[in-house]
This record gives sequence, structure tokens and C-alpha cells, in this order.
Amino acid sequence: MAFPITRMRRLRKNEALRRMVRETSLSVDDFIYPLFVVYGENKKIPVTSMPGVYQLSCDMLESEIQETVDLGIPAVLLFGIPENKDAAASSAYDDNGVVQQAVRLIKDRWPELLVITDVCLCEYTDHGHCGVVTGTGTIDNDATLELLAQEALSHAKAGADIVAPSDMMDGRIGYIREALDASGFADTAVMAYAAKYASGFYGPFREAAESAPQFGDRKTYQMDPANSREALREIELDLAEGADIIMVKPALAYLDVIARVRERFNHPLAAYNVSGEYAMVKAAAANGWLDEERIMMEVLTAIKRAGADIIITYFAKEAARLLG
Ligand code: PBG
Repeated sequence: MAFPITRMRRLRKNEALRRMVRETSLSVDDFIYPLFVVYGENKKIPVTSMPGVYQLSCDMLESEIQETVDLGIPAVLLFGIPENKDAAASSAYDDNGVVQQAVRLIKDRWPELLVITDVCLCEYTDHGHCGVVTGTGTIDNDATLELLAQEALSHAKAGADIVAPSDMMDGRIGYIREALDASGFADTAVMAYAAKYASGFYGPFREAAESAPQFGDRKTYQMDPANSREALREIELDLAEGADIIMVKPALAYLDVIARVRERFNHPLAAYNVSGEYAMVKAAAANGWLDEERIMMEVLTAIKRAGADIIITYFAKEAARLLG
């Protein structure tokens, strides 16, 4: 009878050994915590499909930010829910818009916390699309670029450290980079939602941000979930246009894309553990069908193992507490 020469189980015998040979470790440094800022005062409106997530008015943001800072989370990503939506998304580039106000408030009180802003029109347009809609119902790419640049510039002026365009229009990274540089914001970084798929996993976010498209879908600008070589082309383009950080979104169903991008590029890579991924775990845990903490850490570790340096996640606070 032949005994196995290699015994993989030797190094799994106890936790000390497992720790010694562990290849991936999560850290609070990896996390970006997304927040929804709503116009008005004294608002803390729960997002039904995302337990633990709220729409917060600026005044209610403070305790949330303090908690984030106390947990050691290095960055937040801000989304805005404006009072008024219109066809031109004018609240998006209003220097007194909700996001602009929130950025000023945060940078004033917590200058060390990194503030990243989502740059997109869908939260600010009455039709809910990420770009300018033409008379025939199509999205006008090049007209959208100008508005996105104004929005990014307005965020930078308010003090954002990083702007993060999530609209998926062609050429927007270069256009925004140029606008920032021309106005004295050469040091404001750009995190490009470079490979962003047309995904059903954004469902709960659209409730949170009140940004569901009122007609049609986002398939003419976001990527087809069936493609991965195309993701590499998207990323090449965004890097050529000056992106500092690249992103794959969603994360969980796209770990293969994250791994491919990691192999090909040397730039900091972010992955967005999106609303639907969060909602699935929360819903199953609420039913007692799986162990929430365990699944959360397994999912986040998997995203890191696939190759992400940075994870944008609604679990940031809960994971930070566990890592504490
Ligand atoms: C805006 C935007 C979306 C998300 C981030 N920025 C929604 C969308 O594209 O429909 C999704 C984030 C999430 O689901 O957590 N364009």
C-alpha cells in the first residue's frame, strides 16, 4: 500500500499553520464605503432592499462619517439624491448640490478621510439615464461629456480627492481629465468605472439612489455580461485617457474579469461589491439560510484573491468591525 508523498493536510492542521500559509488577507485599508446623500434635513431613510443602508441628509451624515473614521475605513464614495431632477441633470453640476455640500462638510471636519464622488447623470436626470437623451430617445454621447466634465469639476472644487465616472460614455475619462487639468485640479485623481456591466445586480441601488431609467435600459452604454475581452479594451482606453485607478463592476459574478485585468495591468484595481450582491447575502441571512458574517468575509476575500486591491462595499463597516 502506497502512502501519499505530499500531504496537503499537514499545513491545514491548526489555525496557526493556516495563518502562516494564508495567501490573501483582508484589511480595513482595502475598503471604500458608499453613502447616499439626500437633499433636506433630518433625514435617515432606510433603503428597504439594503438593510443597514440609508439615504442621509447632510446633517445626519456626520455620525455616519464619525463611525466610518473611527473604524479606520480610509475612504467614502458619495452618491447624491437631489431635490430636483431635469433633462439636463442641472443639480449634478450645481456647486451647491447635495454631493458638493457633503464633500465640503466632510473635508472640513475630517480632512484625512478620502472623499470619492460618483460622477454620473442618472441620479439627476428626470428620465434616469446616465446621459443626455435626444429627441429620438437615444443617448447623445458627446453632449453628455460636457455635463460630466462640469459635474466632476464641481466635485473637485468642493474638495473631492477622487472623482469616479460611472456613466460608461466613450471618451469621458480624457474629457474629464482635461477639464480638471485646465482648471487647476491636476492633483484630483480619477477612478474610472472602466469595465462596468449592464447588470441586474444594480437593482437595489436604483431604489437607494432613485435612479432607475424611466424607459429602456442601459445596454447601449454599459457592457454585455457575456464579454470579457471587451473589458480589457475598455480598461486600455480609460488608462490611455488618464485614469489613475481602474474598476470592474459588479464583482462577484465577474471574478474572472478581475483576475484577467489583474494579470494584464499594473494599475490599482478596484472592484465594486454592488447592491444586489449585498442584498442577496442580507436576505438569505435574514431567513437563516446562511451565516452572514462568514459569507461576507468569504465574498470579500474572494474579491481580493481574484486580484482587486480596493473593494467598494456596503459591508465596509461590518467587515471593519470583524477585522478590528
Ligand atoms: C450610476 C451608478 C450605479 C451604480 C453605481 N453608480 C447604477 C447603475 O449604473 O445603474 C450601482 C452600484 C450598486 O449597485 O451598488 N450609474
